[in-house]
Amino acid sequence: MLNNKNNNNPRRHFLSQASLGLLAFASVPKWLNAMQDMPKVPPHKASLNFKPDVEIDLICRLNQVAILPGQTTRVKQYSGVLTQGPKNTLMALPGSYLGPIINLYKGQRVRINLHNRLELGEPTVTHWHGLHVPADMDGHPQYAIKPMETLVYEFEVVNRAGLNLYHPHPHETTAQQVYQGLAGALLVHDAEEEALDLPSGEYELPLVIQDRRFDAQNQLVYGAHGMHERMVGFYGDRILVNGRVDCQVNVATRAYRLRIANVSNARIYKLGWDDGTPLTVVGVDGGLLEQPETKPYVMLAPAERLDVWVDFSGRALGTQVMLRSLAFTGALPMMAQRGMGGMHQQNALPMGSDYPILTMKITQKVTDSPRLPSQLSKIARYHRDDTANPTTPVPIAISEGHMSMVLNGRPYAHNDFQSFEHIKVNTLQLLEIFHEHGMAGHSGGMGGMGGRMRGGMMGGMMAMAHPIHLHGQAFQILSRSIADNVAANYATVSEGFINSGLKDTVLVMPGETIKIIKPFQDYKGTFMYHCHNLEHEDMGMMREFLVE
Ligand code: C2O
Ligand code: CU
Repeated sequence: MLNNKNNNNPRRHFLSQASLGLLAFASVPKWLNAMQDMPKVPPHKASLNFKPDVEIDLICRLNQVAILPGQTTRVKQYSGVLTQGPKNTLMALPGSYLGPIINLYKGQRVRINLHNRLELGEPTVTHWHGLHVPADMDGHPQYAIKPMETLVYEFEVVNRAGLNLYHPHPHETTAQQVYQGLAGALLVHDAEEEALDLPSGEYELPLVIQDRRFDAQNQLVYGAHGMHERMVGFYGDRILVNGRVDCQVNVATRAYRLRIANVSNARIYKLGWDDGTPLTVVGVDGGLLEQPETKPYVMLAPAERLDVWVDFSGRALGTQVMLRSLAFTGALPMMAQRGMGGMHQQNALPMGSDYPILTMKITQKVTDSPRLPSQLSKIARYHRDDTANPTTPVPIAISEGHMSMVLNGRPYAHNDFQSFEHIKVNTLQLLEIFHEHGMAGHSGGMGGMGGRMRGGMMGGMMAMAHPIHLHGQAFQILSRSIADNVAANYATVSEGFINSGLKDTVLVMPGETIKIIKPFQDYKGTFMYHCHNLEHEDMGMMREFLVE
């Protein structure tokens, strides 16, 4: 049964798209080449013995939305149709190019039929960022489908409650597809979270933060700065929240729960309230913390999520409080730091400068408000001694060359596993993420420190911050350490990391070394790990683990 709200019918959508013009996205069709490096697996079909509790048709299509005054903006967009399951499973964000918010409950069996209705032969595939699903349901690029094809995902929700994401993951064209609009939030709920009675409904605000650049015709600009943009990542000059510019939310004098996600291609935010109120964090990527943490500001890198408690009780009607990105340094290569959007361009909104993100206006007086629970959840701590490799961490070496950014010395290649990229299933693994200085791919020849120069002493010209994401189950941060020579920059961000929760993406600053412990349970197969600076990911700053 299809909900036949007229603009939710996949077939109608497809027909109406034809009129949007074939040349809408006719820049270099990179996927023509990209597809050749990736084996094409026939799309998975619905299995007869899988009885879903929830079934969704998710359509990737072209659309036009009004973002700025005047002309509409061409975008790529997910739209969803619920064919089975609780009515609130899909929540559209009115007027936004973002996909609907998908609400799932732990234990549900979910079928999602992904329909590619893009044009020009453009392949796509969707990854459920943060969900622990079997390898062939994880949106690996080898499962990309061509237009008019359908890929059927079937999985059970085993995650605890948390804010996850869904976005495309096709070979070398992820950045462009996300930028053009393909992304959405996916909330998992469970009994532990429900029992806390946190602010919900209109008091729970999903906030997806992105940056974009528009041309004089209100169209999205991407890829204008060529190689430089690929090296440092794309930085827009407008901040959008839930797909809207100049976002303002009217609130009441009570507590709210903000579900914040950074879905920017490359931009890192240092979130803080403009009046100096500390940020109260109740959760991160992998769900609730054990106890709330209070921070002067919080760093939020691409793909990271934050669950924030904010109480407007006692504030005067008509006043406002602004969420800003505060000033910081050191996240970009030294050469790019000055122009900050990049050395060849002036960006009106340099990363690391101070700018507004969102205004909350107090417009309603209420008398009751929930209280912040002091205990939120229980997280079983992983210990080094519980890992399969307590003395030999699996390396994730960040190599920053002049023309390439890679991990573990090699650019992404499918099924190209190095010995340490084989992981035994149902183990806990210790991993160490660090910067490797020297030429990418030539680490063996550096001599000295075991063939690898670590830390920041070489002060690589291209050293920059990278949000490193590992697919599969969330991990715990065991330790962070920083090289002395970058201490001054690091001091501008160091109080903004939440290390106590479950994470799937971690921001690694220049000169920083981070040890994590991650479970690889339940599912064998290929799971990617990569930089979530999407330009880096597409450039090959991605590798795979073979869990076997
Ligand atoms: Cu959100 Cu492999 O990505
Ligand atoms: Cu990177």
